[in-house]
Amino acid sequence: MLQLNENYLNLNQNYLFSEVAKRVAAYTEANPDKPVIRLGIGDVTKPLTKKTIDALNEGVSHMANAETFKGYGPEQGYMFLREAVVDYYKRNGAEIDADEVFISDGAKSDTGNITDLFGPDNTVLIPDPVYPVYMDSNTMNGRHIELIDANKQNGFTPMPYEGLKADIIYICSPNNPTGASYTRDQLKKWVDFALANNSLILFDAAYECFIEEDVYPHSIFEIEGAKKCAIEFCSLSKTAGFTGTRCGYTIIPKDLVFDASNGTKLSVNSMWTRRQSTKFNGVPYIVQYAAAATLSEEGIRQCKENINYYKENAKIIAKCFEEKGITYFGGINSPYIWFECPNNMYSWDFFDFMLKEIQVVGTPGAGFGKNGDNFFRLTAFGSRENTIEAVKRISEFLDRL
Ligand SMILES: Cc1ncc(COP(=O)(O)O)c(C=O)c1O
Repeated sequence: MLQLNENYLNLNQNYLFSEVAKRVAAYTEANPDKPVIRLGIGDVTKPLTKKTIDALNEGVSHMANAETFKGYGPEQGYMFLREAVVDYYKRNGAEIDADEVFISDGAKSDTGNITDLFGPDNTVLIPDPVYPVYMDSNTMNGRHIELIDANKQNGFTPMPYEGLKADIIYICSPNNPTGASYTRDQLKKWVDFALANNSLILFDAAYECFIEEDVYPHSIFEIEGAKKCAIEFCSLSKTAGFTGTRCGYTIIPKDLVFDASNGTKLSVNSMWTRRQSTKFNGVPYIVQYAAAATLSEEGIRQCKENINYYKENAKIIAKCFEEKGITYFGGINSPYIWFECPNNMYSWDFFDFMLKEIQVVGTPGAGFGKNGDNFFRLTAFGSRENTIEAVKRISEFLDRL
């Protein structure tokens, strides 16, 4: 008889954004005359830059010509893109090699799929609250998960503590949903912990392009020792508006070598090469061609114009909470503003309340973990007009509470 993977029974059945969409749909159906402003889902709204679009068109023209046409490409990505990633890292202050770069269709797939490489008996350490993919993909594999509390007291950047045990450690910095980032010194402590305990850090840098203050590293590989204990995931989704175009990159250093139970040395880089060669056939050539142009100096300069636009939105939102004396995190090195619900309200109640009273949609912190129960996430990815209108409504609303 067929046996299904019953670990799926342990998943939270209500996917956060489906529940948000359901409640918004019910409200708009009942109140068609009340326009809703959505500052909930972390999707970008600005179109791709000219540099990216020109390269996409050029890539298409290559496919129209027998001399430049491309069929199956290398599963790990074309060398021209792997080298463009190396160059981008160099400009950000981290040295990596092209054969340590793996091109994928995004950081979501890789942060989930990487779990294929690890044995079932590892203890996985996941911050609470955080991007739900880490929790769900390890739950699907039936792995033992320990949560580490991220909260107001530790500025949403929890640190290793005496007696902590973890084989695999997820770190997301700048963090989704809290917007909090680890400084170089803090990250060095995690690297030292991982080196001392033979653990592996899975570092998600999906929002690195929002970092503007130098104390926060863009990459964990800016930290000494990280190449012996960390994998980094990143993506063009937020950097360059590729959420629909799809392209990410994962850095697996060749120094990452662990002992197998039979005494042989296993290279994580070789294992991932093998895994991807077996289960993945690469990202479309056209997308990779455009991604390489996007990561060039001019490409990134154009992306920064969009990022600065979003960051201005973030400042407008943050200023409102500043003025109202409401505790918030993020908003400077991140597109997210994470604030404490007024009167200690439960975040789903606050969500319903905001929707009903002022028709502004955000994301209830409870959807990211129990430490998010009384927090709320707004994103800076909306249009300026919508952001200003939402902030006006929120400001008046907070005055009434
Ligand atoms: C922390 C984090 N990692 C990864 C992703 C997924 O990125 P991608 O679009 O590259 O799959 C997201 C998307 O919102 C995210 O918030």
